[in-house]
Amino acid sequence: MRVNFGPPVSLDFLDGYLFRLLQEIVSKHGLEDSGFENYYGSRIAEKIGGLIEYEERLARYLLKGYPGRRVVHAGIGVGVLACVLACNGMTVAGVEYYPKRVASAHHLRTALIGIWPEVEARYEIIEGSYPGALMERAKTAPPTSRFLPRWRTPKPAAGPSIPSPWFDSNAILIFTNVASGWSDDKLASIIGSLPRFAEVLLDLRLFGAIRDEEQDRTALFDRIAATARSAERLRELAVGSHFARFVFT
Ligand SMILES: C[S@@+](CC[C@H](N)C(=O)[O-])C[C@H]1O[C@@H](n2cnc3c(N)ncnc32)[C@H](O)[C@@H]1O
Repeated sequence: MRVNFGPPVSLDFLDGYLFRLLQEIVSKHGLEDSGFENYYGSRIAEKIGGLIEYEERLARYLLKGYPGRRVVHAGIGVGVLACVLACNGMTVAGVEYYPKRVASAHHLRTALIGIWPEVEARYEIIEGSYPGALMERAKTAPPTSRFLPRWRTPKPAAGPSIPSPWFDSNAILIFTNVASGWSDDKLASIIGSLPRFAEVLLDLRLFGAIRDEEQDRTALFDRIAATARSAERLRELAVGSHFARFVFT
């Protein structure tokens, strides 16, 4: 098995390679069964590539500012951003509750491991809803079992529950385009989980709801900033996006 000790993997290369993999998944499983639907279907139909602009900008920002760090990406979809980060040395947990997208995320992960074996240890896919799925994750030993041979299948941890390895005060938590209509309770529970991480990056416009009005984005920013050590808007990060950074440790 070849191990890649070379320099970080070019984002331009990954953009094209992931696009090819997305095309293969769609031709094999179709837009519906792959969970791609219009969201990823339009990327393919319009030949946008594996990464869309805000993902590429965010990837560059994270790889430059947080090299080698642990990242939790909540709501990964099929996980293209997680793939890019894991290929470039970050250790990533991707949380996703839509099973068809989870299956497609596993297809991408497996394809990448075939080329960059080190991705197996660096990229874990956690099926379920953030934050509950991360808490549940504490009850099993790493890594995920789906693509491991039987003899390497993890056993559930014995005894009392242990802290989730992914609620890590050194890790970065990111959310991109998760405008899926969270209830007030869900939003409160997600906001309540943020201080368990070192830093959180999220798009104020697409976080549990769509906030097209600046006053709504400001209200969300202020609500989270009240619990953080510091907070800033990252206006340079993506044209048309409204990323903010919250520092908790
Ligand atoms: C519109 S897609 C975007 C995917 C990816 N973040 C991106 O920027 O392309 C949002 C995804 O987040 C997932 N999602 C939303 N809230 C979630 C939560 N609390 N836990 C896990 N997945 C979530 C949805 O199932 C969906 O696949």
